[in-house]
Order: sequence, then C-alpha cells, then structure tokens
Amino acid sequence: MPDPDDRQVPSGAVSLLRTKPVDRIADESAHTSLRRTLGLVPLIALSVGATLGTGIFVVLGQAAPVAGPAVAVSFAVAALAALFSALSYAELAGAVPVSGSAYSYAYATLGELVAWVCGWCLLLEYGVSVAAVAVGWSGYLNAFLDATLGVQLPAALSGDVVNLPAAVVVLLATAVLVGGVRESAAVTTVTTVLKVLVLLFFVVVAVFGFRSANLAPFAPAGVAGITGAASLVFFSFIGFDAASTAGEEAKNPQRDMPRAIVLSLAIVTVVYVLVALTAVGAVGVDVLEGSDASLATVLQRLTDASWPATVLSAGAVIAIASVVLTVLYGQTRVLVAMSRDGLVPKVFSRVGPRRVPTANTLIVGVVVAVLAALVPLGQLAEATSIGTLVAFGLVNIGVIVLRRTRPDLPRGFRTPWVPVVPLLGLGMCALLVAGLAPATWLAFGIWSVVGLVVYFAYGRRHSELARGE
Ligand code: ALA
Repeated sequence: MPDPDDRQVPSGAVSLLRTKPVDRIADESAHTSLRRTLGLVPLIALSVGATLGTGIFVVLGQAAPVAGPAVAVSFAVAALAALFSALSYAELAGAVPVSGSAYSYAYATLGELVAWVCGWCLLLEYGVSVAAVAVGWSGYLNAFLDATLGVQLPAALSGDVVNLPAAVVVLLATAVLVGGVRESAAVTTVTTVLKVLVLLFFVVVAVFGFRSANLAPFAPAGVAGITGAASLVFFSFIGFDAASTAGEEAKNPQRDMPRAIVLSLAIVTVVYVLVALTAVGAVGVDVLEGSDASLATVLQRLTDASWPATVLSAGAVIAIASVVLTVLYGQTRVLVAMSRDGLVPKVFSRVGPRRVPTANTLIVGVVVAVLAALVPLGQLAEATSIGTLVAFGLVNIGVIVLRRTRPDLPRGFRTPWVPVVPLLGLGMCALLVAGLAPATWLAFGIWSVVGLVVYFAYGRRHSELARGE
C-alpha cells in the first residue's frame, strides 16, 4: 500500500529548498495558543539564566591551565565569537519572532532541509547541553553536601556507573515546566538574579586576595593557548540565545528579543571576565587546575572561614539548576515549532490544559534525564558545542539571505555591516569547530546522517508546508 501522504509531497530537490513565508510564520505566531507573558526583564533573565552555569563554575578550572592567566582574554575571544552570531540572532529574532529560534529562521530563509538540519543541531545545543549541565550540577551538589552535612553519595551513583543527581535535577525541572511558563519565568528571574549576585560576591572576596604576581607570566602558551582555551570556554556562552526560543511568549518580541539577546551577552561577558581575572589574580592558575568546584576552592584558599565557599557552592547548585530549567524550556519550544510544521510528530505541539506543551516536556525531560544519568560530561559538552556552532553558522547565513529575499521586512534590530558581521560570525564558528576534537566531528557526522534519515523517512512526508503546496 502506498503511503497516502506520498501524493502530497512534491518530488525533486525543489521541495527541499521550500521556505516558509515569513508572513505565514508571523500569522501563526499571532494566533499562538501560548500565553504572551514575558517582558524585557524576564527575557534577559531567561537568556542569562540559560547561560551562566557549568561553564564559569566548572570549565574555567579546565581552561585556566591551557591559557594561563590570559584565560580572561580567552573568555573575551569566545564572547567575540558569540557576539557576531548574537547580532545575527538579534535581527532574525526581531524579524521572525516565533518560538523556534534558529530553526524557524532557517526555515524562513534557507529552506526546509537546512531548517531541519538546524533543528537537529538545536537538539544538541539544547537537549544534550541540559544533560551536560546537569552532570556539572551533580558535582557541585556533592561538594555542597560534603561541606555542609559531611555526606557523600556513593561514587557508583554520582557518575561512576549512573549519575543519579543529574537525572533527578532534570526531572525536577521537567515538573516545574509542566506547571506552566508563568511560574517558570518567575523562578528563572529569581534564580538568575541570585546567581549573578553570588558571582559578584565571589569577585568582591577575590579582589581582596588579588596579587599581580599571580598574573605573571600572563600568556605562557601564547596565542595558541588563548584560542585553545577560548574553544573550551565557548561552552559557557551557549544559551544567550535562549530568549529567541520564547518568541511567542514575549509581550513585544520585535522590540524586546533583540535587546534581550545583546544585553544578555554583555552581562555574562562582564561577569565572566571579572570572575576569571579575579580568580586567577587571587590564587594563580595552579589552584584552579583540577578542581571540580574551582571557584569554591578559590574562596577556601582566601578566607579562614568556611562559609564563603559554602555560600558559593549553594549558589552554584541553584545557578546550574536554573540553567537546566531554562535550556530544557528552550528545547521544548524548538520542538513545538518543528512539530507545528509537521517535521516531527504532532504530539510535540499539543498544548495541555495549562497551555503548556505537556507531552513534549515530559518526553524531552525523560530522554534528557536518561542521557544525563549515563553519559559523561566531556562528551556531552563537546556534542553541545559542535551542534551550537553549526546552528550559529546557519543563522549568520540566514541574515544575509533574508536581507536579499525580504529587504522590506520590518526588523526590530538590524545587524550592522551586513554581510561583514555575519561572515565574521560564520568564520569564527568555523574556527571554533576546527578546534574541536576529530572524534567530535565524527560523532556529529553520524548524528547528521541519522537526522537526514529521519527527515526523509518522516519530516519530508509530513511537512505542513508541502501539504499547502
Ligand atoms: N552556558 C551554559 C553553562 O555554562 C551551557 O552551563
């Protein structure tokens, strides 16, 4: 029996390039069944909340030995790479303000196949990174429980065999999201403010221990060390685009989303450079190296009292949990967009009684919890980075294409110096991908092939855009 859907699928390469008209996207967005509750501040909180986490609390300690004290410069280099792409994100988020982030932008500009590839990459940027961040959270939870109660979980349950706390935090975040975005946005705003305060507390304490001798030699491994560490700390910037997954829940997306993206990036960059500089200045690179809770270790070294390190660990536990929450939210919204377009099954866009995509959230939560329980942090983080860099690259191309195809479209924000800035963004993405391990490229290649198989077996046949043709 032939599949009845087959009749509706236009044949040939043309259908792979079909783009979704921006006006149609805007129309769907206007009739969204999601609630428009988010103003500028919650959107910034969403992005900063999705960004500040395992990167600064854990990866700083791994990157410091690579660059030396110049690791603060590495953060600035990674920020620059993120900034070029952020400017592209900002324009597209204002022009195509729906919940699907880079996926929706690619659909409007580069066609269905590229959009699918982009959405498939976002599963790495969001879904897999939630698992990575949850594993980092588990390490800090152990440090905190040890410092306060003297309790340590058996190694078999905290990563050696399964990572139970990592799975539990993902499931808790899932429960919060199923409770409704209004509550989630409030929780996100509070935890985001709290973690910025905790990191500023760190900076203030560390400034008192600052000794310029700790910064010499500043860049022992030269430019290569700085860029190598930049590739590592790029992970810490992933998530600044989280506001772009909430386009349909923003009160004024055209105006607020570009601002939220650029302001979020500015906030996290200032915090990262300050933390990196004061941490290294206070204790030197050697102390940071090898600690799973490096910032807490810095405070332990600097003060006689144990409470500053305990406060910081508590802050890290809350901070990283809020990253889990916001990034998980982003993943569900990307899937809503893909499902509405017919590229993944309809169950992902079904909105429950609380106007939340309940089934979607539960499915994503369980899958991510299993990943977090079973896969080590390093592999998850690398997969996250390559998926993100490819998605960013596509967004940069998307800006250039949309300027040509829809110059008339109202844009809340215009990327400066197009095509120079998007091309620089694309170049930076390529540079950072080149800096990743060959094993990561291979894994990404396999992931992409699986994605293409899914697209040709399911998405292409069920595409809503194809049905309308
Ligand atoms: N940027 C996120 C973090 O640092 C992934 O945890």
